[in-house]
Amino acid sequence: MFLALFACVGDDPVPAAVADDGPPPLHEVWGIAPAEDLDPADGVVEVHLEAGETEVDWVEAGPTTVWAYNGQTPGPLLHARVGDTLRVVLTNTLEDETTIHWHGLRIPDDQDGVVPMMDPVQPGESFTYEFTLPDAGTFWYHPHVMANEQIERGLQGVIVVDEAEVPAVDADRYFVLDDVLLKDSGAIDGGFRNIAGMDAMMGRYGNTLLTNGATGTLTATMRPGSVERWRLLGSANARTLYASVKGASWRVVGSDGGLLPAPYEADPIALPPGQRYDLEVIAEDDEVTLQVLVPTSNGRYTRYPAFEATVEGEPVEPREVVWPAAALPEVTQAEQLVELDLDADTSSGAYVWTINGAAFEEGAAIPLAGKVPTSIRIVESSGLDHPFHLHGQFFQIVTRDGEASGEPGLKDTVLVPGLGEVELYTELENPGRWMAHCHILEHAELGMMTEIDVSE
Ligand code: C2O
Ligand code: CU
Repeated sequence: MFLALFACVGDDPVPAAVADDGPPPLHEVWGIAPAEDLDPADGVVEVHLEAGETEVDWVEAGPTTVWAYNGQTPGPLLHARVGDTLRVVLTNTLEDETTIHWHGLRIPDDQDGVVPMMDPVQPGESFTYEFTLPDAGTFWYHPHVMANEQIERGLQGVIVVDEAEVPAVDADRYFVLDDVLLKDSGAIDGGFRNIAGMDAMMGRYGNTLLTNGATGTLTATMRPGSVERWRLLGSANARTLYASVKGASWRVVGSDGGLLPAPYEADPIALPPGQRYDLEVIAEDDEVTLQVLVPTSNGRYTRYPAFEATVEGEPVEPREVVWPAAALPEVTQAEQLVELDLDADTSSGAYVWTINGAAFEEGAAIPLAGKVPTSIRIVESSGLDHPFHLHGQFFQIVTRDGEASGEPGLKDTVLVPGLGEVELYTELENPGRWMAHCHILEHAELGMMTEIDVSE
């Protein structure tokens, strides 16, 4: 608080000694402009988000009207430390009701932005969300009503929660990888409220790639030998995007629920909707590129440069960055089992996406005991992939088709392949009523959503 006051009243640099009664300022996260912290207290971050309409220049044909938080899409970076209180005042200036869901945050269910645990924020109204940030990591926020429309129109933003000891990297970058469906005029294509045809079957596929809400390639510079942290989020409505890094040595150091016990390599890395990965990227060549790979129908990928860094300047002293792992529960014998069968019912001539034979029905929650070793077995029966997302909890991916999955770490989203089977392990630490759904937003709208009710 002292520090903030000093910084405003004079032009002189604040002497370092003044800061000894509070934590140092947060480091810079490159890629998305942060929201201003309006509460000077240590340990509290308060931001104001206004959901409204704005215009962006994505294509030459003309401007695109988007829905945005504080006039930017993706919305402002919310940046805090683990254990901090985050308070977000949402004001809705749209003509539709909205909410904010905090994707991946293990917070109380009455702040989770989901109906019926809370009411949507009506046009012209405000609501204040407030909760403690229990986990460090890379997270996402977005509406949870008419999500297929509201997220595609631009309402989504990012959250970075710092570890108690932040790994010392040369840069921390956040990349939101998205696709959007535009008409020739540049306007966002409609059809959100009557999901039919390919959109009903596959979900809505975009025709324009966006990196941090921009078309084209983002650029920056890196010093030779730099060690950077790149946070990747797949935020398309339906499409699983893939990513690869060229000109660097790189590996996965974190995933949905924070830093991993041991880094691993995967190339390309799959980013289904809602999934995050943190990469360690060490510059090797003259240019370091983040490529987005889009699968084509003949089983290959088309590659797009999302980001290009020119490597120049004074080399960085070679060093090893330590990545402090998030605490991981040991996978033990499960004491309860949840079976979820993902399928489609087309008997009416239209797609209805189902879990255990039924489309979502409000209030029909699966009762489960909290704080108990739990196995979630998901079986896919329709032949199509589904990024399954669970609110309020983390899980570990134990097996895929009966084989050890080799995907370490805590997750809140897992891609369940068509006709595949995955087994998850969780201890359901967070009591409450939680949504469990496919993150292909059109599948969720068409029924592929259920609730679990976790006891105290
Ligand atoms: Cu990303 Cu139910 O949400
Ligand atoms: Cu699905």
